[in-house]
Amino acid sequence: MSGTLYGLGVGPGDPELVTMKVLRVLRGLPVVAYPAPDEGASFARSVVASRLSPVQIEIAIRVPMTPAVAPAQAVYDRAAVEIAGHLEAGRDVGVLCQGDPLFYGSFIQIFERLMPQFRVEVVPGISSLMACAAAAGLPLATRDAVLTVVPATLPEAILEKRLKQAETAAILKLGRHFRKVKRVLDRLGRAERARYVEHATLASQKVLPIAAVDPGSVPYFSLILVCARD
Ligand SMILES: C[S@@+](CC[C@H](N)C(=O)[O-])C[C@H]1O[C@@H](n2cnc3c(N)ncnc32)[C@H](O)[C@@H]1O
Repeated sequence: MSGTLYGLGVGPGDPELVTMKVLRVLRGLPVVAYPAPDEGASFARSVVASRLSPVQIEIAIRVPMTPAVAPAQAVYDRAAVEIAGHLEAGRDVGVLCQGDPLFYGSFIQIFERLMPQFRVEVVPGISSLMACAAAAGLPLATRDAVLTVVPATLPEAILEKRLKQAETAAILKLGRHFRKVKRVLDRLGRAERARYVEHATLASQKVLPIAAVDPGSVPYFSLILVCARD
């Protein structure tokens, strides 16, 4: 019988925010995969590192940090083949995912490739959105309000159009796109009521007004929350 593919949401970074269910599933897994940069450590793995066992087979899915889509797709193709090999051999495989697996998670890449053939179970995680709202003390949505989520990777004109229509908004995948997002928020007159959150729930967490952010040192694990207009 084939193994099961688990998508495991490990939360925003603080190991105390990993759910009991993720820890229980993780303990029983013979194979654990996770996304990692070209070089260096995996953020998702670091969150649960103390819970991994030396007998578990680990698969680092090394995704190149390039805007081009093709290289990453080739990496996911190869990872899916490797994971499928374990599943076919009857071994369960867990794919660790920062935050929640199905919210902009790289797990979706593996999920879409293997879901037609294998049993898949997704264990949700606390998303960066919830962690950043808690860190900034900003309500995301109440009553009949609409929350808009946009990736900062969108072209400037599209970002502006989306944010112009938005009540409360969250802008993810900030990193090197910070300057572009700031220009848009300034034009829309919404920078003053926005909050920048970096490394939410980690010791390095920062919550800052947009004007106080150094655009040259914005990491990938940061987002902006834009408050609803009065
Ligand atoms: C590819 S998305 C993954 C989202 C993730 N699956 C989730 O549920 O939060 C990565 C983006 O999430 C945001 N992010 C993730 N963790 C964060 C953290 N601890 N603090 C601030 N932003 C974070 C950043 O905007 C980052 O660029």
